[in-house]
Amino acid sequence: MKPIMEKIKVQVPATSANLGSGFDCAGLAYDLYNVFEFEPIDEGLIIDGCDEKYANKDNPAYAAYSAVCKKIGAPVSVKITILETNVPVSRGLGSSATLICAGAYAANRLYGQPLSWDEVFEICTEIEGHPDNVAPALFGSFCTSLITNGKPRTVRFEVSPKIHFTVLIPNFEVKTRDARSVLPHEIERDDAIYNMSRIALLPYAFEKGDFDLLKVVTRDRLHQKYRKKLFKNIDDIKKQAYECGAISFMISGAGSTCLCLSERSIEKELNEKISALPNGWVAKELRISVNGTREVL
Ligand code: HSE
Repeated sequence: MKPIMEKIKVQVPATSANLGSGFDCAGLAYDLYNVFEFEPIDEGLIIDGCDEKYANKDNPAYAAYSAVCKKIGAPVSVKITILETNVPVSRGLGSSATLICAGAYAANRLYGQPLSWDEVFEICTEIEGHPDNVAPALFGSFCTSLITNGKPRTVRFEVSPKIHFTVLIPNFEVKTRDARSVLPHEIERDDAIYNMSRIALLPYAFEKGDFDLLKVVTRDRLHQKYRKKLFKNIDDIKKQAYECGAISFMISGAGSTCLCLSERSIEKELNEKISALPNGWVAKELRISVNGTREVL
């Protein structure tokens, strides 16, 4: 099987998963991208543009690339160049999903797109272990997802331009493994109902930009209260965010980044307030990416 082009450049957006109530099933994509190039080669694997310890077959970009190639019967030898890394690593902004989606998309596109987007999504979800980051990373905008009979399904919603998204990124990492290990194995029925009722209205609230509803539906009782202890000075940061006009504050994915929603831009004011606080928190306003994973020239 021969590629239909010599190489391909792919960009994949950063994502915030969970969004409060949508634990493991909701996520949205930002206009902050990692950019990769994939070039089939005669033999072996070359990965350029990252630390040597990540330049091997365990790299998620290669795992996804080779998974697609094996499925379609294409050769797996490839040179991967990481051209731009704008998404912070291990900060809850979906950096591993960018690698996975890039690898899967690139392999499929290089060999003439024998797989549908749904099949690419399925491979990405299998590698990532959950669909909440890879769905918006692939399809853009705001996605809610589920897994049925081992297969992921996702629905994409529009996001109102009225909503301002400001991520707060600290200088410490929270490992997803640690953030999952602090969660209880059993939950109270009231807490389950609390989250279920909120996630049911979450897409509507994002689509309409209904701030009264957003305040309510982004709240959660299933994960954030348990994870808080893994964060440094999160209460101070939250207080400053609300004082600057945030209407909602949540952990982005498993952290360490937090996300706040507001009716106006609060990035500048928030940075002035938090710059004196420990742990290097930086506020950054991001727009929604409607595109997801795309080929770039
Ligand atoms: N939904 C996942 C979690 C996102 O919160 O653990 C982590 O990538």
